[in-house]
Amino acid sequence: MLKNKDILDEKDKRLRLVSEEVTFPLSKEDKDKIKLMVEYLTNSQIDRLAEKYNLRPGMGMAAIQLGIPKRYLVIVHEIAEEEFNTYIVCNPKIVSNSAEKIYVEMGEGCLSVNRDVEGIVPRYARVTVEGYDVEGNKIRIRAREELAIAFQHEIDHLNGILFTDYIDPKNPYKDENNYRAI
Ligand code: NI
Repeated sequence: MLKNKDILDEKDKRLRLVSEEVTFPLSKEDKDKIKLMVEYLTNSQIDRLAEKYNLRPGMGMAAIQLGIPKRYLVIVHEIAEEEFNTYIVCNPKIVSNSAEKIYVEMGEGCLSVNRDVEGIVPRYARVTVEGYDVEGNKIRIRAREELAIAFQHEIDHLNGILFTDYIDPKNPYKDENNYRAI
């Protein structure tokens, strides 16, 4: 089981690496890591388990957050009370996006950023992501709102980008009226 301490903190330089594309078949090690990522993200969003195992709640994780510079990510999206859609995408790419941009009004969060960061992070309201599942089959996902933000946030990790990079601490709510709050 993954623990909070297994997740790299924002000060760790490895989070700035540009991760490498994976090839198939995935190694057993990578498949095992993916299972651990799914387990962590799911448990972390179930209050009693988050408390029991002392997990910080999160809906997405990129491999580099575990120190693995490979292009895969996991998103566990809660669609109803303790009901989740799980997305595992290798070599993900955003192939189209809406013109409209949105931001998380409460502020975006990240399992690698252990502090509250105020400010807005403009994201596309809708994106289409293409990539591969764990077996190497091509997949395409249409995501909107919170899920679209999660994909953009996790794909940024694969390119060494953190959400805090978008925020100017001197003007954290810059241009907020240009985007829709969610
Ligand atoms: Ni993150």
